Amino acid sequence: MQAIAFPHQLALDDLSLVDRPVPSPGPHEVVVRILAVSLNYRDLVIARGRYGAYPLPFTPGSDAAGAVAQVGPGVTRAAVGDRVCLHYVPDWIDGPPRAEVAARRLGGTAPGVLATYVCIDERAVVRAPAHLTAIEASTLPIAGVTAWQALIADGGLRPGDTVAVSGTGGVSLFVVQVARLAGARAIVVGRDPVRLARVAAMGAIAIAAEGDWAARVRDASAGGVDLFVDVVGGDALARSIAATRVGGTVAAVGFVTGTAATVDLLEMIRRTVTVRAASGGSRASFEALVRALEVADVHPVVDRVFGFSAAEVRAAYAHLADGRPFGKIVIDLAPGLGGAS
Ligand SMILES: NC(=O)c1ccc[n+]([C@@H]2O[C@H](COP(=O)([O-])OP(=O)(O)OC[C@H]3O[C@@H](n4cnc5c(N)ncnc54)[C@H](OP(=O)(O)O)[C@@H]3O)[C@@H](O)[C@H]2O)c1
Repeated sequence: MQAIAFPHQLALDDLSLVDRPVPSPGPHEVVVRILAVSLNYRDLVIARGRYGAYPLPFTPGSDAAGAVAQVGPGVTRAAVGDRVCLHYVPDWIDGPPRAEVAARRLGGTAPGVLATYVCIDERAVVRAPAHLTAIEASTLPIAGVTAWQALIADGGLRPGDTVAVSGTGGVSLFVVQVARLAGARAIVVGRDPVRLARVAAMGAIAIAAEGDWAARVRDASAGGVDLFVDVVGGDALARSIAATRVGGTVAAVGFVTGTAATVDLLEMIRRTVTVRAASGGSRASFEALVRALEVADVHPVVDRVFGFSAAEVRAAYAHLADGRPFGKIVIDLAPGLGGAS
C-alpha cells in the first residue's frame, strides 16, 4: 500500500509518497480501503509545522471515505464492503466533549488517513450517506460535522432561527447547508462579491465584510442573529458578538486571521452573548448529519479533485493555501471508484 508522509520534517517540500505493508486488523478493528480524502485548513497549518510537533514520519489527513476491506475478530459495527467515513475524533461517541475522548484526532494526535489502507477501531467508522460519492462523503468528517455540532447538537437550532457565518470556506458552506435543511435562515459575511453571489444562490443572505458589517447583520435579522458561527477569528470575533442578538450565542470555530482576539466585555455582557468554542463533533452528530443529508438530498460543495501522487497532493495543498477554492478540495485515491456512489 501507499501513503503520503513527511519523513524528515513538517514542511510541504518534504511531502512524499511512501510504500508500507497493508495493516492487519486486530480485535474490534477494521481495515478501510481509502477512496477519497478531503483537505482542511488544519492540514495546511500542520504541514507548515505550526500546529504542534508530531512524531516523524508523519502521515497527514483527517477526512476520509472508503470501503471496509477487512474486519478483525469481534467486529459487529461493520462488514466487508460497507461504504464508510472515518470519524475525525475517534473516541468521541456521544454527548459533550470530555478530556478523555477529545484528545485523539486523525491526522494529528492519531494517525493520518492519506493512505490507501487505514486500520482503525470499529467504533470510529460511520456509514457513508447512500446518495454521495466517496469524493463527496470524504468532505464530511471535519467541516460537515463541525457545522452540525455547532448548529444542531450544541446550538439547538430551531426552524425559523437565523444563523450567520463568516467567510465562504469549507466550514461556512456546510453551515449554510445545515442551517437551510434545519429550516433556519442563513446569513454569510464574506469579502468577495463573486463568492457571495454563489452563497446567495445556495439560499443565504450575503453581506459584504466591509465597514460596520455587524450593524448590517443586525438589520437583516431583526436585531441580531440567534447564532453566529465565527470561523475567521482574530478581531472579527468582537464583530460577531456585536452581530448576535441579546441572549444569543457565538460559536468560536476558527482562527483564519489569528488566534488572539480582543473583545469588548461591556458589549458582550450588555448583550448577554454566550461565546462557546466548538472543536469537531461526536459520532452521534456525524450519524445525524448523514441521515439529514440523505433525507434532504444535500450534496457537499466540491471545488476540485486532485490525484494521489506527491506532486498532486502538494498541488492540492497549494490550491488550499492560495487558490481561493469554493468548496472542498479532495484527493481521489482510487480513480473510477472515488466518484461512484
Ligand atoms: N473548531 C472546529 O471544529 C473546526 C473545524 C473545522 C475548521 N476549523 C477552523 O475554522 C477555520 C475555517 O476552516 P475552513 O476549513 O472553512 O477554511 P477555508 O476553507 O480555508 O475557509 C476560510 C474562509 O475564511 C475567509 N478568510 C480567509 N482569509 C481571511 C481574512 N484574511 N480575513 C477574513 N476572512 C478570511 C475566506 O472567506 P471569504 O473569502 O469569503 O471572506 C475563506 O473562505 C479555520 O481556522 C479552521 O482551522 C475549526
